[in-house]
Amino acid sequence: MLSLKFDTGFWPGERILMGPGPSNVHPRVLQALSLPLLGHLDPDFLAILDRTSENLRQVFRTQNELTFAVSGTGSAGMESSLVNVLEPDDEVIIGVNGVFGQRLLEVAMRLGARVHALEAPMGEAFDPERLIQAHKKVPKAKALVVVHAETSTGVRQPLEEVGAYLKDKETLFVVDAVTSLGGIPVEVDAWSIDICYSGTQKCLSVPPGLSPITFSAKALGAIERRKTPVSSWYLDVTLIRRYLGTERLYHHTAPISMLYALYEGTQIVLEEGMEARWQRHRALGEALQDGLETLGFKLLVDKPFRLPQLTSAFVPEGTSEAWIRKELLSRYGIEVGGGLGELKGRILRIGLMGETAKPSNATLLLDGLKTLIAD
Ligand SMILES: Cc1ncc(COP(=O)(O)O)c(C=O)c1O
Repeated sequence: MLSLKFDTGFWPGERILMGPGPSNVHPRVLQALSLPLLGHLDPDFLAILDRTSENLRQVFRTQNELTFAVSGTGSAGMESSLVNVLEPDDEVIIGVNGVFGQRLLEVAMRLGARVHALEAPMGEAFDPERLIQAHKKVPKAKALVVVHAETSTGVRQPLEEVGAYLKDKETLFVVDAVTSLGGIPVEVDAWSIDICYSGTQKCLSVPPGLSPITFSAKALGAIERRKTPVSSWYLDVTLIRRYLGTERLYHHTAPISMLYALYEGTQIVLEEGMEARWQRHRALGEALQDGLETLGFKLLVDKPFRLPQLTSAFVPEGTSEAWIRKELLSRYGIEVGGGLGELKGRILRIGLMGETAKPSNATLLLDGLKTLIAD
């Protein structure tokens, strides 16, 4: 028989995915992935496409009409949010306090924008007042961009004040919610966020492959006023809209199976309820963080800015983080992440996202770490 399993002997073992993503996936989502394919213009598929957008509006807490899943991982959402608004020589303010802020900066530079980078040490959030003052110095900036949940550190960036300040300005408020959506509150309309993108493989617990995104009317106005065409054909929302809307004009072949999976995944999120889901992540994240401190781990981020779904912990003196990660995987089937950039080799990044955020997983990890430290 020709198959992955029988030809190659490959069969993925059971893993508890407690790293920075992907997280574990509900069996209902795996079943959705194996449903028969439909064509991307089939009316039955288009109904699911529309219902997925409707679910995403509820998850993003927005009425924005242009809310959909970009075909590609979180980085495609990142590129999409910048490439659609930035033209060469546009000014843009970007908060850089970790690897993903740095990546946003690189994307903006490649688009020929004049980037005003605001930097903070890895592990710290920006004081909203600092972001507001940065905007006062560059009031003509096309966008102010921040990462809500910096996955390289586990920092939560407060957004409300900046959104309220930018609300009646021309500058767009662009937010990376790759690791926050579905885990902690993301209130696109209430916080006046103009473009917000995420990824499927974190707190939404769907495999990697799509990037949910939403554009406000203010963002669409800015895109309509562009002097040059969007420099990426594939990510151009002025073209993609014509497939999503009543015209149903072919742009690119929709990733059918991934959209089935995202529909199912967002159904599960909504069945649980957004508030209940945030509460589950908060309670479990805090319990894990207390447990780590009791074991002697120092946490990178100050308590008020810690993400419950992603915790960065310095490994104790004399212990190798690579060894801990290797042993957790081989003895317990637990995957956790290591540090990125200047934190490489110094921290563990522990995720409790979506389906993985269960008390039994947190307990198994803490017990495992206790044993490993004793060893
Ligand atoms: C905050 C943040 N932004 C962007 C990305 C990029 O997403 P992807 O790896 O799915 O392309 C990630 C991935 O971990 C992320 O954590």
